[in-house]
Amino acid sequence: MALTFFKRSPKAILQRSRDDYATKMRLKYAPYYHAMEAQKGTSIRLDGRDMIMLSSNDYLGLSFHPKVIETGQKAMSQWGTSPTGARPSNGSRLYHTDLEQKLADFLGREACHIHAAGYLSCLTSVAAFAQKGDVILADKNIHSCLWDGVRLSMATVERFSHNNPSDLRDIVETVDSRRGKMLVIEGVYSMEGHIARMPEIIGIGEEFGCFSVVDDAHGFGVLGRQGRGTVDHFGLNDQVDIICGSMSKSLASTGGFIAASREIIEYLRTNSKQTIFSAAVPPSQAAVASAALDVMQEEPEHHERLWRNTKRYTNILKSLGLDIWESETPAVPIVLGSREAVYRFWQALLEKGVFTVMSIAPAVPPGKDLIRTAVSALHTEDQIDQIGEAMTYAVKKL
Ligand SMILES: Cc1ncc(COP(=O)(O)O)c(C=O)c1O
Repeated sequence: MALTFFKRSPKAILQRSRDDYATKMRLKYAPYYHAMEAQKGTSIRLDGRDMIMLSSNDYLGLSFHPKVIETGQKAMSQWGTSPTGARPSNGSRLYHTDLEQKLADFLGREACHIHAAGYLSCLTSVAAFAQKGDVILADKNIHSCLWDGVRLSMATVERFSHNNPSDLRDIVETVDSRRGKMLVIEGVYSMEGHIARMPEIIGIGEEFGCFSVVDDAHGFGVLGRQGRGTVDHFGLNDQVDIICGSMSKSLASTGGFIAASREIIEYLRTNSKQTIFSAAVPPSQAAVASAALDVMQEEPEHHERLWRNTKRYTNILKSLGLDIWESETPAVPIVLGSREAVYRFWQALLEKGVFTVMSIAPAVPPGKDLIRTAVSALHTEDQIDQIGEAMTYAVKKL
């Protein structure tokens, strides 16, 4: 028995984890995984200091809305804390189907399915429909969850230049017309804040018979009538097959959704492993999203303030000569081009009480290293003034 001790082989995977350069650098410079000690709206407390949050995705600022909070609390009392299972087996409740119908109606779709994470909804929007032998035409800058969906699908992938319809056309023209084709884009690109050139891109997709998937995690709540999103903004609802997105941004909750025709949603419920084998959305989170959806339609002031704040903030950045990558939305990058510059800028903002997030290559294209910021309807005029002062200071530190 004792001999087995000497026979043990070294664990290559454990050693690789120990040696990982990216992890060592992350622990050395500590730019991520900051745990805030307190939060109220866009005010946070970090390491004992009060700060302004400038990188949350709470675009409409509904995560502290009294009605939204109360509805979430009541749902937990009524339904308990967990669905305790997956939707096809024991995990379906009326609160799921009610929210799905409400989202479908809002988006002008027949049906909807919700998942416990936006990542799951978007991943499975690709993985459940494309398969080996198909061709997926994907914008180069789509989110990691969509890339994971592409990989899981086993389809062939063709990437086209970011938001570039003519490149898409050049590529799709070379694809065998008999193959199943899927077009995958975002409505609003999460890092860049760009609005997809949807009329041209979706138009090409329709011309060549592509099944289209639009991840509108950052367009929902932000664009379109009452925040119906990018597809509504362009009036293209009858040309897009799937709109997927997240409930963790404008809907102030967690989870994700897929809205489509009834036949597409029923196919998903039969074939998507992520739908069949993962626990359903918990009661409080569904209730929060449902209440936030009501507020979006009843109180237009949040949407109006979001856009007022966005204009004010981006004007400040432009007046300082900062490169915002032509962002047109509340998702605003500050492109600095190297990880060193990004780190200095991020630290200077932190010093002045403004919390942001660094995004460096390979998370962004080489030379596009950036600070990711996002505006919320909850930012006050005073906070935007303070942010402006912090930006002025950080520019001097470059
Ligand atoms: C474009 C996009 N899609 C999907 C997701 C995933 O959503 P969630 O964080 O709710 O899982 C994100 C999250 O950042 C995103 O930016």
